[in-house]
Order: sequence, then structure tokens, then C-alpha cells
Amino acid sequence: MSQSLTIRRPDDWHLHLRDGAMLRAVLPETTRHFARAIIMPNLVPPVVTGAQAAAYRDRILDALPDVVDFTPLMTLYLTEDTDPEDVAAAHASGLVSAVKLYPAGATTNSASGVKDFDKVRGVLERMAEIGLPLCLHGEVTDPEIDIFDREAVFIDRVLDPIRRATPGLRTVMEHITTRDGVDYARSQDDLGATITTHHLVINRNHLLVGGIRPHYYCLPVAKREEHRLALRAAATSGDARFFLGTDSAPHTDANKESACGCAGCFTATNTMSILAHIFEEEDALDRLEAFTSLNGPGFYGLPPNETLIRLTKGDAVVFPDRINTEAGPVTVFDPGMPVHWHVSTA
Ligand code: NCD
Ligand code: ZN
Repeated sequence: MSQSLTIRRPDDWHLHLRDGAMLRAVLPETTRHFARAIIMPNLVPPVVTGAQAAAYRDRILDALPDVVDFTPLMTLYLTEDTDPEDVAAAHASGLVSAVKLYPAGATTNSASGVKDFDKVRGVLERMAEIGLPLCLHGEVTDPEIDIFDREAVFIDRVLDPIRRATPGLRTVMEHITTRDGVDYARSQDDLGATITTHHLVINRNHLLVGGIRPHYYCLPVAKREEHRLALRAAATSGDARFFLGTDSAPHTDANKESACGCAGCFTATNTMSILAHIFEEEDALDRLEAFTSLNGPGFYGLPPNETLIRLTKGDAVVFPDRINTEAGPVTVFDPGMPVHWHVSTA
């Protein structure tokens, strides 16, 4: 007898769609299963102002076929020059759902990010007043801090001080990768934490043992196994603070398989099948819907989707190894194991 599960349509609370040819190629990979997504603003140049976010939203909507029901939830890229009133106006008009803080230099296209956190205090205070969430890329950039410790140090040096200094600011720890991140999230209220699909699957051995695997390189970098297990426990716990943000981040194979490869795993295509596999392994299929479809809307104050998807267990699902884009091929994340959960619209 085939096993099946019907859940509300999922949302992706952290997604990179890029622009132009790449946008057109990767968008259908997300809209096939997801109803909404928080769209990351790290374009080149970044999406800093309300006007830029409106123009980017229009480009995404233009790339959508008419029949597809998908809502991009836009974000602004926080810089030291961000105008609090522009942010407040973009929020009041319903244009943006969050502001994204990248420490300068922390990850792909983050050069315009924040160096001096005191310089963004006015914006953060305004966001706390109006209830606009701050999404944080939680890694310090101090060259003296080991890359595997950068998330834990960020919590102590940046996140916790910002939260203490800005009461009422709603914060999202983006793509947490450590037990430290899980523990901090559990200790706080008014805080969300997104977890990616790939960090539930890989640890740092997958990246480095037997040869360097550029398609497993992302930021924050995968950590030790104990951290992956903490993430799996958090994602499958049903705790409303934890929800899916795939961080699906397409780069062409040429840019990944190079002497200085870009960070990012492209998981839009197979995320739901992989998650069902993981939740089944953790005996938590009954909590998959909370992670993918309920906790995120709960945090962002949006209704969950009314439409449904069905997951059915059968033969191993065959995914494309890569998708073709006019910019070049993009390799799809390989979970390294067969997954048997097929997704269909219910
Ligand atoms: C992201 C990208 O490629 O834009 N890369 C990644 O490894 N996750 C940026 C980010 O979210 O850090
Ligand atoms: Zn990201």
C-alpha cells in the first residue's frame, strides 16, 4: 500500500531567485511546489530602496506564467545609508516583508552590507516600532574567527546585543547551522530561525572527504555531525520558531567548479521530496506541515496557504542532475541517497 500525506502548500522563507536569464530558469523550480517565498535582495547591485524592491518584484512577476499562483515576498538589503523612512514606507504599502542584514563580506554579494552596527540603529528602532522583521545572515567576518565558529560568535557579539538594544525587534536567524543557533533560538521569544534542506542532509565531511565537492559548499558552511543532528531535532520538533528557508542559491557550474568557487546549494527542485524523506527518518511526518507550511506564516503574520500538496511514497524519484539556464547549467543538490516521496498538487 502506498503511503501518502496531504499538507498545506509550503512556503520558502529564504530564497535566491537572482535576475534576468537565471531568474527565468530557476523560478519554475520554486513555483512548482511553493506558494510564497521571501526573496533575498543580494543582487548586483543590491535591492536597497523601496523603489528597487518594487522594480525587482515586477521583474519576478513578469517572469511568471499567468497560470502560476506565486507571491514573492520582497526584502530590502540593509546598508549603513538605508533611510528609515523609505523602509517604513515600503512596509506600510505592503511592498516588503522584511529587511536583510548581511555583515559586509560575509557571503555572496554582501560587499554593501553593514560594517558598523551602530550606524543602522535608527533603522532597526523604526523597524521595531512598525513590526517589520529583520532577517540576519548570522556570521561574523572577523578574519581571526575560524569559519566554523562564525555563527556562534555572531550570536554573542552581534545578534544578542542587537536584540537587547532594540526591544520589540522581530528577528529571523537565517539558515542556522549549529547547535548554538538552535539553543539560542529556543531561549528567545519573538524570534524565528530558518533551516535549509541541505544542512539537514550534509555535514562538513560531505564537503571535504574523498575530494572537494563544490556543490556542497554554501555559507554558512556545513558543520560537524553533532550540529546537523541538532538541526534535524529542531526542524522536526514542531517548535513554531523553526521553519523552512531553503536558501536555494543558484550559481552556474562554471562559477561553482572553479579555483574560487561560489557559495550556494541549489535545492529548489527537490526540497520537498528530501524533507519528506528526512521527516520520515525522524518519525516526524506529522510535523512536516508545521515546518514547511505553518510556522513561517505564523511568524510573518500571514495566513497559511489554503491549497494543498500531496506527498506519495513510491519508486525512487528521478531528479535532473542540473537545470539549463541561458547563463549556463546549474547543478541540482544531490542528497546522496534515493528519496521516494513524489509531490503532486492535491
Ligand atoms: C547565497 C548566495 O549565493 O547568494 N549563498 C549561500 O551559500 N547561501 C548567499 C547567502 O545566503 O549566504
Ligand atoms: Zn541565502
